[in-house]
Amino acid sequence: MSDEQGDVRFAVVGTPGDRRVTMFRDAVLRRGLPEPVVISWSDVLAGLLAPGHAVGEASVEAGAQGLGVRGFEALAPGTLVRIDSPGEDARTDALLRGPGDPSRVTGGARWYRTFVAGLSRVRALTATVPSACLLGDPGEIAVMFDKRLSHRRLRAAEVPVPDALAGPVTSYDELREEMARRRWTRVFVKPAHGSSASGVIAFQVHGARVKAVTSADLGPGQALHNSLRVRTYESEDDVATIVGALAPEGLHVERWFPKASLSGRAFDLRVVCVAGTPTHVVVRLGRGPMTNLHLGGARGDLDGVRARLGPVAWERVLDACARAAACFPRSLAVGVDVMVGADLRSVAIAEVNAFGDLLPGLPGLTGTPVAGLDTYAAQVAAVLDGWRPEAGGAQETACVT
Ligand SMILES: Nc1ncnc2c1ncn2[C@@H]1O[C@H](COP(=O)(O)OP(=O)(O)O)[C@@H](O)[C@H]1O
Ligand SMILES: [Mg+2]
Repeated sequence: MSDEQGDVRFAVVGTPGDRRVTMFRDAVLRRGLPEPVVISWSDVLAGLLAPGHAVGEASVEAGAQGLGVRGFEALAPGTLVRIDSPGEDARTDALLRGPGDPSRVTGGARWYRTFVAGLSRVRALTATVPSACLLGDPGEIAVMFDKRLSHRRLRAAEVPVPDALAGPVTSYDELREEMARRRWTRVFVKPAHGSSASGVIAFQVHGARVKAVTSADLGPGQALHNSLRVRTYESEDDVATIVGALAPEGLHVERWFPKASLSGRAFDLRVVCVAGTPTHVVVRLGRGPMTNLHLGGARGDLDGVRARLGPVAWERVLDACARAAACFPRSLAVGVDVMVGADLRSVAIAEVNAFGDLLPGLPGLTGTPVAGLDTYAAQVAAVLDGWRPEAGGAQETACVT
């Protein structure tokens, strides 16, 4: 180990015991580096919500000065602070969304407000540690967790994305009006702050008939819950109720991009980009229009996809992902959900995930600087190679948070 490497110290803001934290820690230890300090998201958030501290910038300042967060005071100068997902921790979820049934679909707007305030607090706390540096960027993460902002940023950079409605949709009737105006018959309706397909609706209109496919379960009392079983609704009243329940928290509506299929199943790709380079790829075969793995999606054969696409289309996919990642240059890793059209030529980005690297055991692509390494080892390697957020690339520069 070089002296330079011996100076590298990590901290992780995450949920202690979460697989992501454990796998990142293992990757750090495998390189002979010191044990990372784990700072709990629930501690960061609980401080924000302490009496007299409304969620907002003012409380963030107060939090940085007064309410210490366990872990930060112990950080050595120059620590590299990785911001990870809060994970699926019930206590943290209650702090973010407020108390309630963890399986409910709603609460995204409050989740987002609290999370963004938490990110600012992490930034402020990191700034109290001499020469410490964030390995992600609160502003970029905040954009990635708003599908409207993220889509706008990608489109402005001429990254291929599906067409989308520009303005807000506040009701089912408005959705239908906007669709009719554009002569769109098939759309994806996505909660602005959703993830894991929560509340996503694949919606189509055929004459007088409608069909909505979604993992949202309209239960008794019309409360919406996430279900692992994707459901189909064909009653317009049901669809209007679901859209009406989700609309107040913000919706992003995209035109349905007809995806290519493999063995009769539509697929997309999750492409992790580390330090801006596409390094890890998973083919996700959907059971229906959504390919998310927890909804019955399955990992497909990457070589098969590459062979079907041919080298030109494959390069087009990787290029679109690299350009999507370049929209978030201060993020060490992003997970790009990219769709290939049924024509096997066109490409469109569905979203960019700030925490899209949880792909245990997936080796980096041959021909990349991290071939054979998993997504966490690849990130540690990129940092040891000198990646820092300011440069958005390989040069090492002083860190200013
Ligand atoms: N415009 C679209 N056309 C077709 N499929 C889409 C579109 N947008 C998203 N999907 C599919 O829906 C699923 C979830 O969408 P995504 O934007 O990744 O949201 P989430 O954050 O919920 O994962 C993915 O499987 C993706 O392939
Ligand atoms: Mg996704």
